[in-house]
Amino acid sequence: MCGIVGYIGDQNATPIILDGLKKLEYRGYDSAGIAVYTDGNIEVRRDAGKLSRLEALVAEQPVSGPLGIGHTRWATHGVPTARNAHPHVSSTGKVVVVHNGIVENFLELREELLAEGVVFQSETDTETIVHLLEKYYSISGSMETAMLESLKLLKGAHGVVAFCSEEPDKIFAARIGNAGGVVIGLGQGENFIASDIPAILEHTRRVIFLESRQMAVVTRKGVKVKTLDGSEVSIKPSVISWDPVAAEKGEYRHFMQKEIHEQVRSLTDTLAGRVDFEEGRVRIPQLNATEELVRRVDKIILTACGTASYAAMVGKVLIEKIARIPCEVDIASEFRYRDPIVNDRTVLLAISQSGETADTLAAMEEARQKGAVIWSIVNAIGSQAMRLADGYISMQAGPEIGVASTKAFTAPLVDLYMLAILLADLRGVIDEKTRRRLVADLRLVPDLAGSCLDREADVERVAASLKDTRDALYLGRGINMPIAYEGALKLKEISYIHAEAYPAGEMKHGPIALIDKDMPVVAIAPRDPWYEKMISQIEQAKARGGIVVAVATDGDSRAAELADHVLWVPETPWMLSPVVTVIPLQILAYHIASLRGLDVDQPRNLAKSVTVE
Ligand code: AGP
Repeated sequence: MCGIVGYIGDQNATPIILDGLKKLEYRGYDSAGIAVYTDGNIEVRRDAGKLSRLEALVAEQPVSGPLGIGHTRWATHGVPTARNAHPHVSSTGKVVVVHNGIVENFLELREELLAEGVVFQSETDTETIVHLLEKYYSISGSMETAMLESLKLLKGAHGVVAFCSEEPDKIFAARIGNAGGVVIGLGQGENFIASDIPAILEHTRRVIFLESRQMAVVTRKGVKVKTLDGSEVSIKPSVISWDPVAAEKGEYRHFMQKEIHEQVRSLTDTLAGRVDFEEGRVRIPQLNATEELVRRVDKIILTACGTASYAAMVGKVLIEKIARIPCEVDIASEFRYRDPIVNDRTVLLAISQSGETADTLAAMEEARQKGAVIWSIVNAIGSQAMRLADGYISMQAGPEIGVASTKAFTAPLVDLYMLAILLADLRGVIDEKTRRRLVADLRLVPDLAGSCLDREADVERVAASLKDTRDALYLGRGINMPIAYEGALKLKEISYIHAEAYPAGEMKHGPIALIDKDMPVVAIAPRDPWYEKMISQIEQAKARGGIVVAVATDGDSRAAELADHVLWVPETPWMLSPVVTVIPLQILAYHIASLRGLDVDQPRNLAKSVTVE
């Protein structure tokens, strides 16, 4: 969950690292630090709190040098204080490390090191790594050997970046398991290291993604990659097409607001190159979905966490309706612990913005062991969820920085719709007329999203009337039931308002007892096949004195009459309606949080990529 940046070259490493950390702050933001090689020594600056505190510290106590590493932390072991912030330096001051992941056997390692006389300075698990590095460095006199020896002892999943003041021409970067990526950016006479692409995009688009159990030795002039067993690996750089400007806030107050507004573009990009409007067909070559495979499959398990799991719930409705393949949705953190029924006729479809979520990756591995075909829908290019899969759909959302996911929710909704059409086509269960109509509807998507965005001011007015509420209930049915969950999640994660979501039909089985004038009910009621049911749900909430905010289709006079506030959305084919109904809920949550003066992009306790279990 933490962010890591490293630099080696002829420039001053400090501003490059601080700037890179700024782009990664979404990964963790409870403390930050840098270590720079300066005149034969390692100088460390670190502090608790956000990166701005570290920047102020560096301004007060400047440090510069041609090589350095930096870190933003999301605490797992030890409270967020300056002492627990990374980088951690060894007792002699010669070796320094930053780390992402959890040393699962740290108590054991710590005991052994304590018995050898090591004095610990922090409560972190990471500190064991630097003491191990120092121990093996003092034995071998080689930092490369020290890295290989130390990393072998670590249990768990890790990204580790380190250097030694006695070998100031090298930075070492390693990856073990799925604790987040390690990317090496290739420059001219300089090289970069990061846990995620946005940190280095400004400098280079040529990158190497480390695989699990690989270590890179990075010098000014080049990069050598080895497995942890010491054998050399041939390097295949990838070229990233993301626009560095896309990772900046621009004219917007927050990344989340910018990302909400980017949805017209991300949805346009989602269709590009995949939809043949002339033929009325969808093509996704990277999925490697053959007719033989798709006809053999008797079950698709969609797995994901958080927002991505709500996209999965919409996907189930779409795939079952269009392709007639039975689907299950599994929260990834539950999947591997219940001995799921999976075989070679099962497809496991993982959905993940970051492609690094530990639980999602573990579900993929579990399904792989049981013989399933693994597909993924992933935003982060080159991430583990993309590489672990037999086939993938690359989300075209672009970099998403705000912790609350927005454009990386609507993109997979469209991906899943396209996937359902493709599967139906390959299985031969869709007639040409229906297929052409479903494909033609896709053309509407970017404009429909744009129309929702044009109504931001109306949604902002509703936000102003709800900003002081303490609780909210979100209700939806059918294909829009997951949108109730997503709307409630958006509200709670950035505004800290308690929000619960229910399939609307469940109201009468208990939650209706909650409704009174202090419990706003957000009812997602577009003109879809569940519309009448939702209207009667709104009537029931009104009959109990509830304040109702309806998401309704333009011109719906019944919704207008019944609801206290209406968030209008344009008329949309029902299978694509979640794309439009969610947008006002994203805007609503954004403005409520912003009116409450909260840190929208970096809400408390959260991190963008959840790389620990
Ligand atoms: C979204 O707003 C959340 N912050 C969170 O639920 C997120 O969707 C979840 O952690 C899954 O992340 P992933 O898509 O990167 O796997």
